[in-house]
Amino acid sequence: MFGAEMRMDAEGHLQFVDGFSLHAHLCAEHVSALRKRVSEMREPPLNLEAVPDPNLEIFFDEILSAPTTEELLLGLYEKALPALKAALERHLKETNPLADQPSTRVCRFALIEIDDMIEFGFRSIASLVDGPCRETTRPWIGLLDDCLAAAGTISGADKSAAKPIQRRHSAAPYQYDRIPKRDERFPDPFNMGVNAEVFLYDAKFPPEPKTLMMFYKRLREIDVPEMMASIITETRDKPWKYSRDMTRQLWDEARHAMMGEVGFANLGIDWPHKVMINHTWSLALNTQLKPIERHAVLYFIEQGLMPKNGKRFEWEVGRASHNPLSGLFQDYDWADEVLHARIGRDWYLKDFKNPQEAVRYGDQCWSRVLMNWESWRQQGLTQHRNWWPEVYREACKHWGIEPDPEVLAYSTTYQTVRADLKELTGSA
Ligand SMILES: [Fe+2]
Ligand SMILES: [Fe+2]
Repeated sequence: MFGAEMRMDAEGHLQFVDGFSLHAHLCAEHVSALRKRVSEMREPPLNLEAVPDPNLEIFFDEILSAPTTEELLLGLYEKALPALKAALERHLKETNPLADQPSTRVCRFALIEIDDMIEFGFRSIASLVDGPCRETTRPWIGLLDDCLAAAGTISGADKSAAKPIQRRHSAAPYQYDRIPKRDERFPDPFNMGVNAEVFLYDAKFPPEPKTLMMFYKRLREIDVPEMMASIITETRDKPWKYSRDMTRQLWDEARHAMMGEVGFANLGIDWPHKVMINHTWSLALNTQLKPIERHAVLYFIEQGLMPKNGKRFEWEVGRASHNPLSGLFQDYDWADEVLHARIGRDWYLKDFKNPQEAVRYGDQCWSRVLMNWESWRQQGLTQHRNWWPEVYREACKHWGIEPDPEVLAYSTTYQTVRADLKELTGSA
């Protein structure tokens, strides 16, 4: 579901991938708090992973398998989250506020963000779901209602005479689609015509235009949640804390992409038309590597960001520029990266004999990934158009300066140099 990026409104934000990333993180945090609280009970239920009622399983399988974004939104925000809200409110009403104060506290905090999520969902639905769509989905929505009724709602307390439930969207087991989906704001998704890193690390270029390359790098990070979603979905043998940590990182990466978007918007740059954000990395990793190999590449890239020329360098460039947002964003981006390095150590590194081996494996996995730079061009998937001069000119207009001819002439692509500045051999 994290791959669904659909336009919600005319403002052009990365609403869905970011909305789902945030909501996944919020839910994971509240689930963690509730799990902890349940474990404090005198006789806690032993297996919190077990689904308490088969009808609830059908309910969530149906939503997971929803074939359209409209149905996914209706299922999540008009059915699942309101049902969860009702269950938490019911607990607050029925429990003893003195004896069970720690639970009421957890429920009250969760309700604040559940309300935010429902509001976001309602606004999305108002933009996307029209009358005819509502009419077509009515029988399926009825099926979701039947599931809840048969389960006695999420709390299990209101069981009514259950009708037998016939699975519809989930009649066949859910198939995760690894291919990232993007909308019209990403018109040239194979474009690898502007190498941000070669420019960024070239000492002859000044900091101001480098902030544009950093906004581009941040915005392009929308491919990280696309890729991490596939790791989380396809890794089944980890404890709950793995999902919580990885979902936090997934949201951080979506947030980094939004920081890039805000950076461009702040300079009045119409990024969907001017900056070509590709999906080549998430597409290649999701379709060519196994989940552990994708995680290895992620770890390899992130541990490479920690030395002097990584996040510290980007922060220093941001501070040296006259763009206050750039310094601010890089400050928080760096802090997040420290957390991600810890998550990598906890959930990837410890499966290896030593850190060197873990890094080497990540490098090997990334080297195996085929980036068909030339063949994409031959197939007409992209011309790798150099969009840089146009964006730079636009920013210069905003800054009220004349473009620097050397900066304007920058035209290094990703044909032979990878994002970690490693030379690629051949034209793959
Ligand atoms: Fe990031
Ligand atoms: Fe990161």
